[in-house]
Amino acid sequence: MAEKLKQASSRGSGNADRQPAAAGLPLPRHIAIIMDGNGRWAVSRGKGRTAGHRAGIESVKAVLRAALDLGLPELTLYAFSTENWKRPRTEVSFLMRLLRSYLAAQRAKMIRDGVRLGVLGDVAGLPAPVRQELDRTLEATAGGRRLLVNLALNYGSREEIARAARLAAADVAAGRLAPDAITAEELERRLYTAGHPDPDLVIRTAGEMRMSNFLLWQSSYAEFWVTPVLWPDFRREHLEEALADFGRRQRRFGGLPDSDE
Ligand code: FPP
Repeated sequence: MAEKLKQASSRGSGNADRQPAAAGLPLPRHIAIIMDGNGRWAVSRGKGRTAGHRAGIESVKAVLRAALDLGLPELTLYAFSTENWKRPRTEVSFLMRLLRSYLAAQRAKMIRDGVRLGVLGDVAGLPAPVRQELDRTLEATAGGRRLLVNLALNYGSREEIARAARLAAADVAAGRLAPDAITAEELERRLYTAGHPDPDLVIRTAGEMRMSNFLLWQSSYAEFWVTPVLWPDFRREHLEEALADFGRRQRRFGGLPDSDE
């Protein structure tokens, strides 16, 4: 088992060697969450969809609290995809306002808790007031050392990979990179997640079994955990359930179980 834990953590900084006190199981170094089901949660209560997004903020807070308590080093939340612009304008505006007010209201607490904010996605495509609030929070929390929380905003994997290819092509055109030097590592260095460990665990709420253009490259070897629980109902116990399941998975990264070597 110890050998497997080492294997699971060999691609990054080694945090996966840490053990959650209660279960004695390996912790993921990076958890990514597809927060789905806000609309269904609201509609099932006879409310407008935006009420579900508002309620989803409570789940975000609960998950951050739990991540801090459990000593998880990195969390990525899929908050707004490149496809989400297709939603009604009122819903998009509501989500943007919610994001701004969340950042403004939580900034001081993030600093106190040692949380550092990160952003993945095409930030330039977000409304200026959101960018301002993001910039303030990125700067104010830059010293956070306990937990890195990345918000995937205006994020889409296909665009991220195409952008990495464009950046590499520009380097080739400028004579900084040979075409046959474009390796997976070179492309990784040009993804929004450059320098981050790949997610070990991807959680999706509300039961859908799809990736929805989220961290497609980075999740190549991630463990996937889907729950029927709608995002606004997601709490610490569900995260702990996912972690317990993750701890029991045998990760082989395309190799063989140790016993078969
Ligand atoms: C998916 O539910 C959820 C979203 C597209 C937005 C997620 C946003 C939040 C939880 C609030 C803002 C987040 C932060 C981090 C401040 P859906 O609307 O697709 O639900 P449905 O599939 O039931 O319609």
